[in-house]
Amino acid sequence: MTSLIINIQQLAGVREQNILLRGNALADLPIIDNAFVLIEDGIIAEYGPMYELELKVPQLPKHVIDVTGQTILPCWCDSHTHLVFAQTREEEFIDKIRGMSYAEIAARGGGILNSANKINASGEEELFVAAWQRLQQVMKMGTGAIEIKSGYGLTVEGELKMLRVIKKLKQQSPIPVKATFLGAHTYPVAYKENHQGYIDSIINEMLPVIAAEGLADYIDVFCETGFFSPGEMEIICRAGMQYGLKPKLHINQLNSIGGIESAIKLNALSADHLETMTDHDIQLLAASTVIGTLLPAAAFFLRMQYQPARKLIDNGCATALASDYNPGSSPSGNMNFAVALSCIQMRMLPEEAINAATINGAFAMEIENEVGSISIGKKANLIFTKPIPSIAYLPYSFGENCIDKVMINGEYV
Ligand code: NIG
Ligand code: FE
Repeated sequence: MTSLIINIQQLAGVREQNILLRGNALADLPIIDNAFVLIEDGIIAEYGPMYELELKVPQLPKHVIDVTGQTILPCWCDSHTHLVFAQTREEEFIDKIRGMSYAEIAARGGGILNSANKINASGEEELFVAAWQRLQQVMKMGTGAIEIKSGYGLTVEGELKMLRVIKKLKQQSPIPVKATFLGAHTYPVAYKENHQGYIDSIINEMLPVIAAEGLADYIDVFCETGFFSPGEMEIICRAGMQYGLKPKLHINQLNSIGGIESAIKLNALSADHLETMTDHDIQLLAASTVIGTLLPAAAFFLRMQYQPARKLIDNGCATALASDYNPGSSPSGNMNFAVALSCIQMRMLPEEAINAATINGAFAMEIENEVGSISIGKKANLIFTKPIPSIAYLPYSFGENCIDKVMINGEYV
């Protein structure tokens, strides 16, 4: 099927080349005013300004959509989520309102361990159905590619169950899905006094099955005081790397304990969170090839300091933005909100935020050839806005739903 979309007020994120954006380049969001896009079989086949339509599309297809007044941009590429979980955790939300910290809740068996108990008591099918619903929900909010982690199993069966759910989502989802193994999310109760035993279980019991069944693309570790040390992270990641799993890591959320150095040593694809960064951490990360993925919704929800986006970008860091959708620290997969927060609270320019949430997010999942920009040959995964005065209006009018329609593979969802 061929569709031609005409009279697009602004077509944003048009790119002929895929380049991971860092530093100043992040502020450059290429836009064509008064544009068209041609879509063939779900793929962007041509685009340009309306005055080039006759030249570029000599024969108009039957299916022409006039979107006068609307802006189109590539769908969000959400490169960090925990979309598979069994139940929400509002009771901890109330504990936090009453004054408990995230770390205190975790220390008394809440948090990740709470979610792990619920995952282990749930069947694969019910987990799939709930995750599928969440996936539909975030697609309607403009997400057109997503990464999903395990990490709420913390047992061999639980982790494999989560990863099999993610594999099924991958097979059935119309949007690209990447799977990350996060067995090292926290130490389960059974291994509270035997950390080496759990690391051995990850390496000797979980990883071989994950590799044999092709259940993951990446390996993740929650590197944090009271969770996994940088040394433990390195051991776990090197074991995963032997099976071809690249590291994508939870680092510097609550403390700076050397995770950045380790991520660079491991040649990680991305270092995510980064709420707590020393100037030295910022400089190291900015000078490395590791993508810094900021999760402002987690800082917002936990009432923490935001990630130092300005310093990271000004030092030349390749920065991505993601939702961190999970029941504990970011019970929202709304990337529009993450983009708005990054502008309002982290002083990212709207162009920087949109680039970080699209093309750089695609790089952070290694699917920059499929999604993340308006480019010939990429998937027609597109956000159609309601009439808006400018691109900056999207983060400015936070809380307002500016999305009229979302198109995935050339079809409205
Ligand atoms: O990315 N920080 C570690 N993991 C998750 C939250 C996990 C949870 O509280 O359930 C995060 O914020
Ligand atoms: Fe996370």
